[in-house]
Amino acid sequence: MPEKYGLVLGSGFDSFTTDVQARRVETRFGLPSAAVREADIEGQQLLTLARHGEPHTIPPHAINYRANMAAFKDAGATHIIALNTVGIVSDFLACGEIALPDQILDYTWGRAHSIYDGLDDKFDHIEFDQPFSTLLRAELLQAASRGDIDCYDGGVYATMQGPRLETIAEVARVERDGADYVGMTAMPEASIARELGLEYVCLALVVNHAAGRGEGPIHADIEANSLSARTQAKSLLAQFFRDKSND
Ligand code: HPA
Repeated sequence: MPEKYGLVLGSGFDSFTTDVQARRVETRFGLPSAAVREADIEGQQLLTLARHGEPHTIPPHAINYRANMAAFKDAGATHIIALNTVGIVSDFLACGEIALPDQILDYTWGRAHSIYDGLDDKFDHIEFDQPFSTLLRAELLQAASRGDIDCYDGGVYATMQGPRLETIAEVARVERDGADYVGMTAMPEASIARELGLEYVCLALVVNHAAGRGEGPIHADIEANSLSARTQAKSLLAQFFRDKSND
């Protein structure tokens, strides 16, 4: 099957697509957050979907992750690069940087987290020891190194329920559990993608210090660092898709 890439867009990423025609198409899990729109990055035709809707109105716990991943699959995607903003728990990375986490902790609850709901005649226990596509991670890291773009390799993404930010004690707890980043959207997106047979990676944009780990209010931190993380992520995607076009 030919590779087709889907980009899950977090906030601030609508500029990738000029495809305003596409309509939101119902999946077997209901409506996705938004239409799957075509985009072109460095000569590669890909698909995009705004995770929080258009406009940005759907909070992390209310996203229909099953419909979003199914919408990509129905539109022909085979590979998914998910853009997720995160807070950083310790200071091994500066805010404004990007990373490709390699593990997940899941603290979410009440989200429809599997495509299997007991209504079909079968289900599967997917393997999830490596929650992100090792091949796609390696290719993105290779692109980063070729383009001389800083992108941290690895780390544990703790998926928090949100939409509120964490308490200091919660950050201390997830750190004891091994977390490096806190975010709200990698799960159940990543495991649903695996259930659907999609190669999925999380490209994390470090936009703030986790609660209690920075100086001022978290929102000021996010304001100050989002642009640089976004610029870095865009450079990596451009390099990655340029490499694909030249392959
Ligand atoms: N916590 C949870 N999710 C986030 C954060 C955070 O500090 N920053 C961006 N997404």
